[in-house]
Amino acid sequence: MRLVPWTLWPVGVVGLESLLAWASASNGAIQEWHESLADETAALQDVSSDVCWHAGFTKERCCRGDPTTSPDCWDGSYSFGECCPNADCWIGSFTYEFCCGEKHGLGGNKACWSGGFTHQLCCLANATSNSWADILSSEIETEQFYQMDDFYTDAQYGDEWGYYSKGHVLLGGGKGQDGTEQTQQFAHFTTYPMALSPHFARVFCRLLFIMWVQLDERAPFRVVEMGAGSGQLAYDTQQCVRSNALGLAPALWRRWAAAFEYTIMERSPALRKRQQSRGLRSVAGDAQTTGSCKSVLAALAASPACQGADGDAPECEAQERGTAEAGASVVLSNELLDAFAPVKLRFSLYGKPNITDCRSWQEVRLVHTITEDKLRSLLHILGYSEEMTEGTISQVRGYTDATFCAMANTTIGLEVQQQVSSNTSCLAITFSLSELVNHLDLGVPFASHNMRMRIRKDTKLSDRLRMITERLNGELQTSVALPRDVYRQVRHQLRDWPDLEADFLHTIQTHLFPVSISQERCDDLEWWFKAHEARIAKLALFYRQLGYPALHLVVRPGEDNFIDLVDCLLGPTGGFKLSLDYGANFEGLAHSLSVDGTNDGIFVPPIPHELMEGLPDCHNFWPKCAGRIDWTTFVDFTNLAAAGERRGWRTVFYGPQNLLEQFSRLNLTRNGRLYSVPGYPVLQDAWISRHVKGWYGRESDMDGTGVQRWTSFKALLLEKPSAKEVLSPILFPSWHLDTRHTDPCWSFDPSTVPLADWIPRQGNDSHDALTKLTDEINQDLGRQYAEGYEEAQLAVRLVDFMVAKSGCEAVHPVSAAAILERPVQWEALSVQQCPLMSLSRNR
Ligand SMILES: C[S@@+](CC[C@H](N)C(=O)[O-])C[C@H]1O[C@@H](n2cnc3c(N)ncnc32)[C@H](O)[C@@H]1O
Ligand SMILES: *[C@@H]1O[C@H](CO)[C@@H](O)[C@H](O)[C@H]1NC(C)=O
Ligand SMILES: *[C@@H]1O[C@H](CO)[C@@H](O)[C@H](O)[C@H]1NC(C)=O
Ligand SMILES: *[C@@H]1O[C@H](CO)[C@@H](O)[C@H](O)[C@H]1NC(C)=O
Ligand SMILES: *[C@@H]1O[C@H](CO)[C@@H](O)[C@H](O)[C@H]1NC(C)=O
Ligand SMILES: *[C@@H]1O[C@H](CO)[C@@H](O)[C@H](O)[C@H]1NC(C)=O
Ligand SMILES: *[C@@H]1O[C@H](CO)[C@@H](O)[C@H](O)[C@H]1NC(C)=O
Repeated sequence: MRLVPWTLWPVGVVGLESLLAWASASNGAIQEWHESLADETAALQDVSSDVCWHAGFTKERCCRGDPTTSPDCWDGSYSFGECCPNADCWIGSFTYEFCCGEKHGLGGNKACWSGGFTHQLCCLANATSNSWADILSSEIETEQFYQMDDFYTDAQYGDEWGYYSKGHVLLGGGKGQDGTEQTQQFAHFTTYPMALSPHFARVFCRLLFIMWVQLDERAPFRVVEMGAGSGQLAYDTQQCVRSNALGLAPALWRRWAAAFEYTIMERSPALRKRQQSRGLRSVAGDAQTTGSCKSVLAALAASPACQGADGDAPECEAQERGTAEAGASVVLSNELLDAFAPVKLRFSLYGKPNITDCRSWQEVRLVHTITEDKLRSLLHILGYSEEMTEGTISQVRGYTDATFCAMANTTIGLEVQQQVSSNTSCLAITFSLSELVNHLDLGVPFASHNMRMRIRKDTKLSDRLRMITERLNGELQTSVALPRDVYRQVRHQLRDWPDLEADFLHTIQTHLFPVSISQERCDDLEWWFKAHEARIAKLALFYRQLGYPALHLVVRPGEDNFIDLVDCLLGPTGGFKLSLDYGANFEGLAHSLSVDGTNDGIFVPPIPHELMEGLPDCHNFWPKCAGRIDWTTFVDFTNLAAAGERRGWRTVFYGPQNLLEQFSRLNLTRNGRLYSVPGYPVLQDAWISRHVKGWYGRESDMDGTGVQRWTSFKALLLEKPSAKEVLSPILFPSWHLDTRHTDPCWSFDPSTVPLADWIPRQGNDSHDALTKLTDEINQDLGRQYAEGYEEAQLAVRLVDFMVAKSGCEAVHPVSAAAILERPVQWEALSVQQCPLMSLSRNR
């Protein structure tokens, strides 16, 4: 939860309740769930199998061949196209005879088989039918449909019109003045390192010290921070080391300060300049690619200690990958990962889809449309000649017809045409289909023959389709679709005309469109499908029972690349990677997306008023103000941990960020040496500001009803090991990254979406549990889970506080009971006594 956001956070504002359609705290939140139950026919059946086959008519008999092979199977009520999974096989020269004729033998004609069209499906008719969405786009080139991560990157970090690159990120819109003056405006922006300066950094400073001890006083001890913003964390951490703010013993401190080095890697040129102006070392690089490794290693090897050193000191020599001497020891980031570019995926729940097979998945892409008139006047203003304008328009119109009318002319498109008025445009036909999938109550099927059957025979579905096409047809009259390259070109030309750009944003419409996943993407995501297979299977089971047609998931391919980059930097002797951000575990995020297909997982933080001047409503639909506002997504910590684990890393800690803090002193023995590490609380010498409260967990209790807490700021600490021994700089118990590993003594799990945790706890029948759910229960859950989230942190803080004040004896259950006098109160302090108790046992 971005309660202390990167962008301006006005006083007394909304939480993120509105972000998630089923925020437990908000009214009517369970509507979506109930609607999915309203119609039993929406269950995920193979409708065709259910209705076509009876009285001697079987799929085996009727679907072998083509529509003419067994004419007796087909009367006025049922057709080959509606009943047979292989109906889409027969098109043009691909006939049954050509593909399955006896002369081709057992496997049929090899020339016929590609992708989803197999001998089993087409000749034997006993494989799962292809999806209608694949059929819809199978004959067209979807390359020019914007991939979500490309669009996101262009709009945020693209050189041309990216929000960060253009300086819109800076207050005053980056107009006029030089870079230095603009970056001074960061006084108006706030994140935890800034709001809690210098205490936030000292919590890190203390952890870094423990890591240094656990890494056997490694020297040099190189810390790399990625995405450092104003550089506050870097500045304060270095101050902490230099001034011995932790109060270490002098001899120890001297060794520590001598070993310590700090380097920033930053993507934004304006921010890099700002960091350098504060005396910080900062090198350019993108955290989403391993390609950045080399330049960071070069910067590490050129540290001040290496200046003027003899050429052959190994720590001053940069290699392709980090070495034992010259690599990094720790990589840090705060609010970096939420900026990574997302991709939205759909996974159909019909049949028995194979999770690790890319063909079971679709990727949501973006298509932009604009009316010809608007495009014409825009091109005029941009100085296009009459001829060039008309040339461009006819080119774009040609693209629209070639692409969208080809889709409207597929078996599925033609089925829609039968149901809607004859003047419906190709754009309206195709977009209505992609919009329909988000109408959860319809349980829109996956298989193309099922879909044709439903469109033809299910009046609820065809009525809805008509309603959508009529609206879209009105909206899209005389509209054309802009290929991605044309969209980019227009944005390029508008980049220095903010008013015109705003006008363009008012006019342009963005449509989301699911298409088959490209081969390149499949290759990238192969590990992801495998790493999360068990979790996805569990989610699939859950949603199938509830009648949902698909799972929706967001993946940031940059997360895996980031871990790869860190792996490269850390070198063979290992080290740590600590990331702080808002986010949750894989399942929590998957639930929040799957329950509402229109949620793309992209959050638009509150925007300073002056940045929104002249723009359309930027919060209504996230793509609306592309390039002019900040976007962010919730980090998937499970995925980061999985990306580490596939490289042999260990997950050391995951949990709310304040569990990084330790107030009590820590006594460590390492290599026969005793280290006494003073504690450091953020509250030390600070007044209890809104931000301090936020740090300790009470992020937003503005309206007293409890809010979505499960996405709040968390820390993930991973270790790239170099030895068998598990290092663990954080003392407090870790939270789980997979619900299968939930501590058995948590009576409920406040780290995920309340309903998703509550429903399975009601017994085996999710459907049944849901029908019993009332708005009252739902509201109570919202409060209960939000409080549970806070109490889980409070429990740790109390133990820490008691140890700091009275030593370990204080938390021995006997003494604890005595301290609190009444055991009942002690019990009530925490919803999760186990971590608390196990902690007291350990100490
Ligand atoms: C939300 S700010 C956080 C700044 C700082 N860590 C703090 O907490 O105040 C995100 C920072 O990450 C940088 N950044 C975003 N994406 C990046 C990427 N792919 N590679 C490197 N830096 C990136 C931004 O330019 C910015 O400095
Ligand atoms: C389809 O039929 C063939 C031959 O009858 C059989 O070998 C195959 O296992 C069947 N496949 C499925 C998925 O039922
Ligand atoms: C699922 O798909 C993967 C990748 O295509 C394949 O290797 C695997 O054998 C399939 N599993 C099943 C059960 O069909
Ligand atoms: C639709 O597709 C058929 C072939 O499947 C083709 O003959 C026809 O010309 C197409 N119609 C349009 C309007 O593109
Ligand atoms: C399409 O036809 C319907 C009647 O069939 C009419 O009401 C509607 O205005 C027409 N729309 C367009 C865009 O021509
Ligand atoms: C750490 O050691 C010191 C003495 O060296 C002792 O006073 C203190 O209680 C110990 N703290 C803990 C948490 O064990
Ligand atoms: C739930 O299912 C498990 C195994 O399928 C069974 O052992 C258990 O009795 C069931 N519980 C209820 C309440 O039906």
